[in-house]
Amino acid sequence: MKITKICCIGAGYVGGPTMAVIAQKCPHIKVTVVDLNEERIAAWNDENVDNIPIYEPGLSAIVAEARGRNLFFSTAVEQAIDEAQVIFISVNTPTKTYGKGKGMAADLKYIELCARQIARVAKDNKIVVEKSTLPVRTAEAIKSILDNTGNGVEFQILSNPEFLAEGTAVTDLLHPDRILIGGDTTVEGQKAIQSLVDVYANWVPADKILTTNVWSSELSKLTANAFLAQRISSINALSELCEKTGADVNEVARAIGMDSRIGPKFLKASVGFGGSCFQKDILNLVYIAKSYGLNEVADYWEQVIIMNDHQKKRFSNTIVQTLYNTVADKKITFLGWAFKKDTNDTRESAAIYVADDLINEQAKIAVYDPKVSRKKVLADLDYLETRTAESNMKSISSYEDAYTACEGAHAIAVLTEWDEFVQYDWQKIYDSMHKPAFVFDGRNLLDKAALEQIGFVYQAIGS
Ligand code: UDX
Ligand code: UDX
Repeated sequence: MKITKICCIGAGYVGGPTMAVIAQKCPHIKVTVVDLNEERIAAWNDENVDNIPIYEPGLSAIVAEARGRNLFFSTAVEQAIDEAQVIFISVNTPTKTYGKGKGMAADLKYIELCARQIARVAKDNKIVVEKSTLPVRTAEAIKSILDNTGNGVEFQILSNPEFLAEGTAVTDLLHPDRILIGGDTTVEGQKAIQSLVDVYANWVPADKILTTNVWSSELSKLTANAFLAQRISSINALSELCEKTGADVNEVARAIGMDSRIGPKFLKASVGFGGSCFQKDILNLVYIAKSYGLNEVADYWEQVIIMNDHQKKRFSNTIVQTLYNTVADKKITFLGWAFKKDTNDTRESAAIYVADDLINEQAKIAVYDPKVSRKKVLADLDYLETRTAESNMKSISSYEDAYTACEGAHAIAVLTEWDEFVQYDWQKIYDSMHKPAFVFDGRNLLDKAALEQIGFVYQAIGS
């Protein structure tokens, strides 16, 4: 089947950029992105493309090119489902906060709602593509809902996991390492796979498009993220040992990364990984392993999360200890709140947990992040439910400008590796701070020698 109409449910960090790139590269395909959130859709449709709800380098230019031509954002979910031959499901699948599997399993209620809606609306055969990261065998559940509640039309379910990383989403989409498409081994399944392969083939070389069975595809997504996160926890584990022994984790990372079998990427010691995927996907893997009684497998992967939590805790503990064991009423400035640079996404950002620890010690936190609003910072803290929203508001402030945020601070903590932090006039910042002036670099970003020369007491992770 030649695809001419695609619908994507979920205009988030994954659905938005992915569909924008498909629309740009396939002008013959009408791509409609729908979402329940009216505010979000309105922002995607904002006349000024700089106001689209997701910040990704290069994204607004692509939206400007394709929007209104063959890329549309809408809240008319049913109409878009009805029209499309292919429906991507790209809604969020947060970790369950209630009931069985609480804190571990993925909450699939939005996925199920989507499946039921598709079943109700569809009047002709459809290909349904799982884009959201899901527990293995979710496709089976979606299929069962579609087949048993639909109008007798045929559905093919494909798994097409997204490997884009935020901050580099557009480049990752334009030049993917691979595209993975899992489908049924039946003739119909293979035809559905081919239809989606043909869409990607508009810009992705054939040898980078991989096809597998559905479960391999689903499991590969979780595994890829687990392996990446494991590397970070491995190097972070070593960072603590480096601090004790006098080794420098950056030197160790460089030395081991030159072994071509290990490779240099994802070896940067940090205050801990964040983002919407790593923790959730590993917890999913752990949950699945446990549910099959594979306790050793579950424990093995869970350790990656335990190490990550330890790293965040360790960072806040170091701050407290270094500031003479008390941070009560001291102003501590956070440079960065996003979970990594070049994104306005803060989900699971280490900054949230470090701030929470320091506020428990009665510190006053001042935040500057080039892309994150005060509203978001507060919402992230409130979400933890450690204390009331009022109390959070008293403990945390957010600034439009880094220099003001640092004025009168006892210490600066670097939580995100934004490029601009390196360019600052650090002498000016030093002059405006309490003395001794401390910098805790959670990203190994700044120049130790230069800061020490100015007079800062500088501490980085792992050295
Ligand atoms: C999500 C998942 O978190 C991730 O696991 C998966 O790999 C891709 O999809 P993301 O796009 O970053 O990632 O999520 P988010 O930015 O929260 O976007 C999801 C969107 O779906 C939201 O805008 C939400 O309003 C929308 N949604 C959710 C619906 O339109 N309908 C629903 O029933 C539920
Ligand atoms: C990840 C995967 O990379 C991507 O393929 C998948 O589709 C979604 O999940 P993302 O979470 O957007 O992408 O960002 P990523 O670049 O993987 O970074 C995740 C976290 O790890 C960030 O907090 C980052 O700062 C941290 N990190 C990354 C390190 O601490 N050290 C490193 O060396 C690399």
